[in-house]
Amino acid sequence: MRWTRRDLIRQAGLASASLALSRKALAHSMPPVAAATLNPQKLTPFVDRLPVPPVALSRLDAHGVRRVRITMREIAVSIHRDLPPTRQWSYGGSVPGPIIEARSGEELAVEWANALPTEHFLPIDHTLHGAERDKPHVRAVVHVQGARVGTASDGYPENWYVPGQSRVYQYPNRQDAAMLWYHDHAMGINRLNIYAGMFGLYIVRDKVEDALDLPRGKYELPLVLYDRMFDPHGQLYYPVSGDPESPWIPEFFGDVMLVNGMVAPYCEVEPRKYRLRLLNAANGRFFHLSMNGNGNAGRRSSGLPLHQIGSDQGLLPAPVELSSLLLAPAERADLIVDFSQVRGQNIILQSDTLQLVQFRVSSEKAADTSELPRTLRPVERIAESSAVESRMLELNEYDDAVKAPKLMLLNRRYWHMPVTEKPRLNTTEIWNLINLTEDTHPIHLHLVRFQILDRRPFDTFDYQTKNRLRFTGPAEPPPANEAGWKDTVQAYAGMVTRIIIRFAGYPGRYVWHCHILEHEAKDMMRPYDLLPA
Ligand code: C2O
Ligand code: CU
Ligand code: CU
Repeated sequence: MRWTRRDLIRQAGLASASLALSRKALAHSMPPVAAATLNPQKLTPFVDRLPVPPVALSRLDAHGVRRVRITMREIAVSIHRDLPPTRQWSYGGSVPGPIIEARSGEELAVEWANALPTEHFLPIDHTLHGAERDKPHVRAVVHVQGARVGTASDGYPENWYVPGQSRVYQYPNRQDAAMLWYHDHAMGINRLNIYAGMFGLYIVRDKVEDALDLPRGKYELPLVLYDRMFDPHGQLYYPVSGDPESPWIPEFFGDVMLVNGMVAPYCEVEPRKYRLRLLNAANGRFFHLSMNGNGNAGRRSSGLPLHQIGSDQGLLPAPVELSSLLLAPAERADLIVDFSQVRGQNIILQSDTLQLVQFRVSSEKAADTSELPRTLRPVERIAESSAVESRMLELNEYDDAVKAPKLMLLNRRYWHMPVTEKPRLNTTEIWNLINLTEDTHPIHLHLVRFQILDRRPFDTFDYQTKNRLRFTGPAEPPPANEAGWKDTVQAYAGMVTRIIIRFAGYPGRYVWHCHILEHEAKDMMRPYDLLPA
């Protein structure tokens, strides 16, 4: 069967074409013909318990600085009852890596030690920037996404180091409570390193959050969502293009869904409120999430409501009730779900028809003193008038003769070209993301948090042929669940997405990029310089 883009949108149940997933989603939703891959139907869902990543151990050094040491190394662990252990690359011996718990305002020093093997087990493309043949195969550098951190500790893609080396990064944590995440960022290969398992959560907590009566302890569950493909022996399989000189593919969509390192696990819960902290750690898949009872897959009407209380950079002003949620790669969602009305039932978190995790709600009554607060944390809207600069930035895609995407750029520039975005510390700017492509791109800026102003459709043909920006509809302000602090924004196809950014933090060189990892690699990533005040 061949799906059209319209089918996909319909299947996804998305009312608006602005949420369109790409035509390439279709091309890659099925394994390449030649490859022998594991049939996902063979993996019985809900036979493995949902694991929760361990919390990283920390110690106070003689100077009162909290320290953590995390080693990157190869492991072989079980991802499903019926499969042999799967080779993966981990932080600290688990995938996802250990959860780093941080307090707002308390500095943390993390030593990231690279003890990986010296040969890669996934297909490196030596034609990509930074992955040329003269570069070591295995390189790593860690970025904590969403951290307000100095450039020396931000994990600049070219600051990679090889097995046997380590780096100590300093995280000041002068920022609000939020769920951040760490992952590899080595130039030209981070899509492979992350695919191999190099990601984990970094949770910042503060007094504002403490003062709320949110579910905590075992009632707060991190859920790291991602998709993969496997060979028939349960080993990671990453597809390649037809070109042996350049195995890069424009997007990856796996057919096996994993949560916290397990294929479609189950989780026993009490009939009460839970706080679910979601991360989309996939290379390219958008998750369209809802909670449903058994047997009503895809019927969202009968689903359990999701109360979103936070997004990428922390708490929203007030909870937002949703029946479904579209989470792009690298985005996070903080949800409260109340299982008290579904005692004794099985509830499935799914992305359209894909089953992610099954919650088995006990029939025993449970005490619950936690609350879904009416208000959470004030989020002051940044005034447009405070912006000193408004940048027009195109998102470009270049296809080859058969209309397959070959290259994606930010504002028509490659990674290595001179820096063009040079905001000044402590100023505010508006960035207009002019998306000329047919894809939604999740655009992420390092260091900063921002707010979404609006999204507005425009005539892309006019823009490209007559060089003029003609809007074809009104500007839409973000829905309530996107109106908090963000570090990643879904820039819809054929729209100008405006974000307003306060450049607080530390001067130096950072990056901004699309978080579809295959796009980032070729070449949808650019440096930016934050100039001193
Ligand atoms: Cu998850 Cu450069 O970022
Ligand atoms: Cu980042
Ligand atoms: Cu992209």
